[in-house]
Amino acid sequence: MADTLTITDNRTGKQYELPIEHGAIKALDLRKIKADQDDFGLMTYDPAYQNTAACKSRITYIDGDKGILLYRGYPIEQMAEKSTFLETAYLILFGELPNAKQLDAWVHEITMHTMLHENIKKLMEGFQYDAHPMGIFLSTVGALSTNYPDAKRIFEEDSRRLQIRRLIAKVPSIAAYAYRHSIGRPYVYPDNDLSFTGNFLNMLFKMTELKYQVNPVLERALDILFILHADHEQNCSTSAMRGIGSAQSDPYSSLAGAAAALYGPLHGGANEAVLRMLKEIGHVKNIPQFIEGVKKGDGRLMGFGHRVYKSYDPRARIIKQTADEVFAVTGRNPLTDIALELERIALEDDYFISRKLYPNVDFYSGLIYQAMGFPVDMFPVLFAIPRTAGWLAQWDEMLRDPDQKIARPRQVYIGAERRDYVAKEQRT
Ligand code: ACO
Repeated sequence: MADTLTITDNRTGKQYELPIEHGAIKALDLRKIKADQDDFGLMTYDPAYQNTAACKSRITYIDGDKGILLYRGYPIEQMAEKSTFLETAYLILFGELPNAKQLDAWVHEITMHTMLHENIKKLMEGFQYDAHPMGIFLSTVGALSTNYPDAKRIFEEDSRRLQIRRLIAKVPSIAAYAYRHSIGRPYVYPDNDLSFTGNFLNMLFKMTELKYQVNPVLERALDILFILHADHEQNCSTSAMRGIGSAQSDPYSSLAGAAAALYGPLHGGANEAVLRMLKEIGHVKNIPQFIEGVKKGDGRLMGFGHRVYKSYDPRARIIKQTADEVFAVTGRNPLTDIALELERIALEDDYFISRKLYPNVDFYSGLIYQAMGFPVDMFPVLFAIPRTAGWLAQWDEMLRDPDQKIARPRQVYIGAERRDYVAKEQRT
């Protein structure tokens, strides 16, 4: 017998049989349930989409209760241990791990697109000297659409592939230029002899030396962090990417919108907020008082809690290990002790246990980034670079999905009923 849901409408006494597929009913099937002929039909009310699947996807699987994260079926732990960011990006985008020849070609293609047009460089020079790099990043990504009008051909696969290569290759260059601009240093052009993350470090930190010497531990740590952040199914910024893309906007404009969503402190801005919080706490002895404040509602414990994970975020576990390797090179971030103690106390406190609040990916990532020399303003930008692969994979999947249309939620209207306009003189 097929899985169905039987609903009895107490208003009419009628019964409805709705098919269940993949653990979901189709919201449109509810429309048949009407109180009378004039009724629009039943809707679901789901603010913040807490229980609504807006698409079918083959990209990323999360089991939030068990703390499982899979990219195209491969566990995040194996990807972080064995893969590189560019290989992971290929997997996320195209569905399978590349063979050796495909991987070489992919790495070559990305490497050949790292340069920015000089006009884009000039555009970035126009930003205020202390502009937030994430603001520069998202504006510049949006501006790229004016450089590549061919990107409007979103239903041509070759064009989509080209924009994907351009975007993945250019986001580190934009990010590095944004950083150099914010500290008043000259831009560093890409070095195509280096790896994806090695070149990124070069563009960020090269000074007067002829060739930038990449520290292999930091290069690999950044690669792991990029793998962990590459995709995370239908989160706020990915939904923005799909939502904007559903209007058939070009990928640069859509990605600028996704980056804007990521900028928010509840999403990609969380690791910045974690560091500010740790600094504010200042000393382990102040932690109990801070925790009491959080429990009373004076702010949140940043880097804790997740809409999907109701156990330890598997990415947080990997990041914690990576932190030790980075600190062996850079020296220990003094805020680490506060973070470790905060985690220990929170994990033993009933407030956090009962609400299933565990460290998320952002609890430790900021500590690593700071130890590597990144200012906190750069943290959301560091998130946006790898997530570009996920956003583009989700955008591409959405465009090829025959079920999809322009995203357009419904509302439950609770405002005033129809009334006549009142002249200014007659208003009370
Ligand atoms: N600190 C203290 N209490 C919290 C926290 C937190 N970090 N997160 C949730 N809660 C509490 C809420 O107050 C609420 O309590 P209540 O039931 O007594 O009212 C309960 O836990 C449920 O919280 P919601 O806000 O309903 O959970 P939601 O799923 O909407 O929020 C979110 C998820 C936004 C991530 C939230 O946990 C949060 O604000 N965390 C801090 C910010 C953060 O770290 N964001 C990064 C997320 S990961 C990422 O985007 C990459």
